Amino acid sequence: MIQLPGLIDPHVHVREPGATHKEDWNSATAAALAGGFTMILAMPNTRPPITDAHTLQIALEPAQKNARCDYAQYLGAGADNIEIAPLLAQQVAGLKMYLDQTYGPLRLDEMTLWMEHFRRWPQSSPIVAHAESRTMAAVILMASLFNRSVHLAHVSLAEEILLIREAKTRGVKVTCEVAPHHLFLTEEDIPRIGSGRGEVRPRLARPSDRDALWANLDVIDCFATDHAPHTLEEKDSNNPPPGFPGLETALPLLLMAVHEGKLTMADLVQRMVINPRRIFELPEQQETWVEVDDDVTWHIEAAKMYTRCGWTPFEGMPVRGIVRRVVLRGQEVYKDGQVLAMPGTGNRIR
Ligand code: NCD
Ligand code: ZN
Ligand code: ZN
Repeated sequence: MIQLPGLIDPHVHVREPGATHKEDWNSATAAALAGGFTMILAMPNTRPPITDAHTLQIALEPAQKNARCDYAQYLGAGADNIEIAPLLAQQVAGLKMYLDQTYGPLRLDEMTLWMEHFRRWPQSSPIVAHAESRTMAAVILMASLFNRSVHLAHVSLAEEILLIREAKTRGVKVTCEVAPHHLFLTEEDIPRIGSGRGEVRPRLARPSDRDALWANLDVIDCFATDHAPHTLEEKDSNNPPPGFPGLETALPLLLMAVHEGKLTMADLVQRMVINPRRIFELPEQQETWVEVDDDVTWHIEAAKMYTRCGWTPFEGMPVRGIVRRVVLRGQEVYKDGQVLAMPGTGNRIR
């Protein structure tokens, strides 16, 4: 049995408000605890998107009622909230900028809008960007011009991780996260997963991209799930929305990689606890830990999960190491497959 600190996931799509048939604050935070995460940062691409004080309230109300782990909510950068967004900075996880193809209506194409947000958003609060390939290069330039930090979501390509290495070497304040699906899956897995189910942004990449992520592990600051649940009915439809669930598979997959010698347990804790806490200035959680049995091999099974979406792209994959027990602020919140935390016991941390 090994003990880890409570994990932090800085990239979760809770789906409430607006799509609670996919997930809600209750089910997302239950899935988080089952996966060993005791704190999550919730993305703003909900319906309605979270872009002002009113919509922030629409997300935080069900969160306060139903969250079972600690949380904060991101604000989305839009065309219409340039002036008011900074007023909410102290109440949110950070500002999320969608600059490339994604799910939902939040997408900023015009660089004039990026500049206005970069100019006004407080230096002390994180900016997170969904920006792929050359768009990523553009947003790194913008962070550099405004001499502020930017955190790059779900890095998936060799050219991206190498660009980030160069930027870091030159002192640009850039940090990044990689999602487990880009470390453990490639486009070669799509026939097995199915083409609709295999849709995700950024797309599953080439084996050479996956290998480049592993080879540049030292450049990766965080592992973030990008937990993006959609139902099987939606994924198998003619217009499948992009996104994979990930909260309940991230730790077992990464523990398997530890077992295989691809990274160390210290590497894992650095990227799932220490770095996200530093980058997002998150409070330490007292008396909070995860007990893992690292001696058990088992197979991933969506049927046993707490996420409402009912499937996983990792179905049937062998993993080693299972979450046995989670303690959050002194309370036993998960034990042997059962989430014990009551809805509403999670704390808002901003
Ligand atoms: C995310 C979603 O479904 O909200 N989908 C995805 O494929 N990652 C949106 C996003 O993270 O860009
Ligand atoms: Zn994204
Ligand atoms: Zn996402």
